[in-house]
Amino acid sequence: MTLQQIQEATQFLQQHTQHFTPTTGIILGTGLGALVQDIDVAYSIDYENIPHFPVSTVESHKGRLLFGTLVGKQVICMQGRFHYYEGYSMQQVTFPIRVMKLLGIQQLIVSNAAGGLNENYQVSDLMIINDHISLFLPGNPLIGPNLSTLGDRFPDMSEPYEAKFVEKALQIAQSNGIRAHAGVYVSVTGPQLETKAEYRMLRLLGADAVGMSTVPEVIVARHMDLPVVGISVITDMCIPEQLEKAEIQKILAAAYKAEPHMTFIIKELLA
Ligand code: HPA
Repeated sequence: MTLQQIQEATQFLQQHTQHFTPTTGIILGTGLGALVQDIDVAYSIDYENIPHFPVSTVESHKGRLLFGTLVGKQVICMQGRFHYYEGYSMQQVTFPIRVMKLLGIQQLIVSNAAGGLNENYQVSDLMIINDHISLFLPGNPLIGPNLSTLGDRFPDMSEPYEAKFVEKALQIAQSNGIRAHAGVYVSVTGPQLETKAEYRMLRLLGADAVGMSTVPEVIVARHMDLPVVGISVITDMCIPEQLEKAEIQKILAAAYKAEPHMTFIIKELLA
């Protein structure tokens, strides 16, 4: 995707939102849409109406951009994200992040549903992402000519998730009786869940949770020097010896259960 396409989408959104300037971008993951109920929405724009935007295909994703106010802060919220497994290129998956940056965001909050690899975790716990492993994603959104107006050719990845926000999020969780851990997220393409042998390998690699999103968006955000907060909701446990059959309904139910906790932490962080 070209800089011109990013700029055209940005201009379209500026025109349709009276130049609303969000300071924080929020991406809501699978089953984690309830935060929008707390947003005082000023503008809601379906992805399909935005020039060059990919259109979401997953049923549990709504597919629109919301501009509004959350705890007094101007935010832009992606209700539904794009996954590589849906058939989009890595550049399409990350296109909205670049648009949000041009719209003015100064930080990005990403959420996702993830499988727990760390045996200290329980279903519906939160994991505040403190690092990631970009694995099995064939390709990378930054491959190709560098968009040098957005960032450097070789972006630093020494602190992809802002350490002070990780600490803050853990503190908020602790003082409010919310189960949360800091941990490493590993990305896979999906859409199939992993085999026991794969879970064994992912644990050996040092991952605490596994999921099918987030890493491409964070790479692109860091390319543009955006500070990132990442929150995984643990929707199922992936310990090979105790593996149960994955059921999407159970996964969604676990996400819904943890959703108020995640929403609370995001609001507290913003405030
Ligand atoms: N793998 C395993 N379990 C999961 C995932 C995944 O990618 N996402 C949510 N639960």
